[in-house]
Amino acid sequence: MTAQENIEIMDVPAGRRQELDWILEESFEGWYLWHSKKTLRDVELVRAAMSSGRPLGLVMLKSLEGTVGYVYYIAVARASRNKGVGKLLLENALQLFKASNLKEVFASVEKENEPSEALFASEGFTRTSFGEVSKRHGSLHAANMYRAMTVVPGEILLRKPIL
Ligand SMILES: CC(C)(COP(=O)(O)OP(=O)(O)OC[C@H]1O[C@@H](n2cnc3c(N)ncnc32)[C@H](O)[C@@H]1OP(=O)(O)O)[C@@H](O)C(=O)NCCC(=O)NCCS
Repeated sequence: MTAQENIEIMDVPAGRRQELDWILEESFEGWYLWHSKKTLRDVELVRAAMSSGRPLGLVMLKSLEGTVGYVYYIAVARASRNKGVGKLLLENALQLFKASNLKEVFASVEKENEPSEALFASEGFTRTSFGEVSKRHGSLHAANMYRAMTVVPGEILLRKPIL
């Protein structure tokens, strides 16, 4: 199956998010698993890629201060990886952010997470740094944004302007 066939991307209301826990269990370990499950419950928006009523992957999104969007977690079920599902979810998230008039989007990934950085790079995200974010937003806003994004040591921050 290629990703475009019969895949629908939809909002997942708070009461149904627990049904997606298994995708996180296949995707993360340790602190990330704990934190991604907690975020799944609390985050502003969860979108899932569905095929024949079954979830294949999910993305967790939120808006930060001003006109900034954040892709919190993106995860695809093991059996559905490398078929374009992650890309569909990310493209859909970018469209939503654009429709909400956001001007830039951030995502953080672990340094060694090649599939994840490849996915974001394929959609035009590039590496940025605290220094660069501070130049654009001022150091106070940058610090607040970093806190809201829960960027932890060993992660790199990626950015994409929304044109
Ligand atoms: C990262 C992840 C979401 C990618 O989802 P996916 O559906 O497999 O990705 P896609 O098939 O849409 O591929 C998107 C792009 O990434 C590249 N990519 C995907 N997996 C890759 C891998 N293992 N190695 C190198 N590149 C990879 C693809 O080639 C594609 O690039 P292209 O459009 O230039 O060809 C998935 O691997 C996953 O769930 N990983 C575990 C959770 C995780 O680490 N999430 C990210 C941090 S929040």
